[in-house]
Amino acid sequence: MTYILTVNGTDYPVDADVTRNLLSVIREVVGLTGTKEGCDDCECGACMVLLDGRPVNSCSYLAVQAQGCAITTIEGLQSDGDLHPLQRHMLESGAVQCGFCTPGMIVSARALLDANPDPDDEDIRIGLSGNLCRCTGYARIIEAVRKTAAGDSG
Ligand code: FES
Ligand code: FES
Repeated sequence: MTYILTVNGTDYPVDADVTRNLLSVIREVVGLTGTKEGCDDCECGACMVLLDGRPVNSCSYLAVQAQGCAITTIEGLQSDGDLHPLQRHMLESGAVQCGFCTPGMIVSARALLDANPDPDDEDIRIGLSGNLCRCTGYARIIEAVRKTAAGDSG
């Protein structure tokens, strides 16, 4: 079956089995590999993308169901080659170690800040509760989100 997915503002014709998940189609058909596969079971958040601004675990979402949605991946957060402030603050705060969780973490943080531009630390923890990080202990990730919310240009 061929259908169209709109990813980061570009339409991609997708010729894929209707049972394929959105994560595999984004990575292997669309060719954007920033979105990561961790658990493949809706547990870790590494595969997080936005569907019409709503964070979704793409490993557990059928690609065909994303037709007609604006899909945003980590690649879509930069603008004309400039990193999104969340991306800059994650780097500058030392919130990236192995980096495997980072794209999904940033995508969830973007959704959080869109919904709540002035979150406190508890709001941030709740907003990122679907994203697991094995490396950083979360404090620097929370700091990066806090700096972004405060408008620190990084
Ligand atoms: S890979 Fe999707 S939640 Fe872990
Ligand atoms: S930086 Fe390694 S899992 Fe988060």
